[in-house]
Amino acid sequence: MTSISPSLLSADFSALGRECRTVLEAGARMLHFDVMDGHFVPNLTVGAPVLQSLHQALPDALFDVHLMISRPLEYVKAFAAAGAGIITFHLESESPAGETIEAIHAAGCGAGLAIRPGTPAEALLPFLGRLELALVMSVEPGFGGQAFQPAALKKLQFLHAEAQKLGRPGLWLEVDGGVDEHTAPACRQAGANLLVAGTAVFRAPDPAAAVRRLAAL
Ligand code: DX5
Ligand code: ZN
Repeated sequence: MTSISPSLLSADFSALGRECRTVLEAGARMLHFDVMDGHFVPNLTVGAPVLQSLHQALPDALFDVHLMISRPLEYVKAFAAAGAGIITFHLESESPAGETIEAIHAAGCGAGLAIRPGTPAEALLPFLGRLELALVMSVEPGFGGQAFQPAALKKLQFLHAEAQKLGRPGLWLEVDGGVDEHTAPACRQAGANLLVAGTAVFRAPDPAAAVRRLAAL
């Protein structure tokens, strides 16, 4: 079984609580909450107040918050207070990575670090021992529904091997972008243990069945 973190970006925003319950009941391990600021990426989404409402409605759910914003350090406390379980930010952002990881831990959350397709996996190495999650983007961040970039697979293999060397088999190795029934098996074989899927879950005729199928691949 592979853990699935459905991306709410492709859910029905008029019924977010219901969409979350549907995928959690189908076995989703966490809920992927994409935050975009229109600056780090050319798109805007939702922020801490929406997370807070969802957290209040679903207090037992683990929220996997993916910050695609230029200055994540300034928003760590707000997302932690709103109910984030894991806060992932981008290595390419303007915030210093070490300090941001410390702030995430101080706020009581798991820390994740993400890389865009153009960033080599080696860039994550100095931080790997301090992270709960490493996120390899398999599309350029900003929009759902893009095609999976196979170059992500080599990065996953590399990070999986490095995590083993560090004695961190429990590290979440997450892949995000274009993950569906066709691309998920290769991600899993490459060492990913947490698959983000937006379109493949929420645009499927039966999102619960889509979660179960992806988890079983
Ligand atoms: C894209 C977001 C993703 C997105 C994935 O920048 O980080 O989480 O929702 O969507 P799909 O699964 O449709 O590629
Ligand atoms: Zn994401």
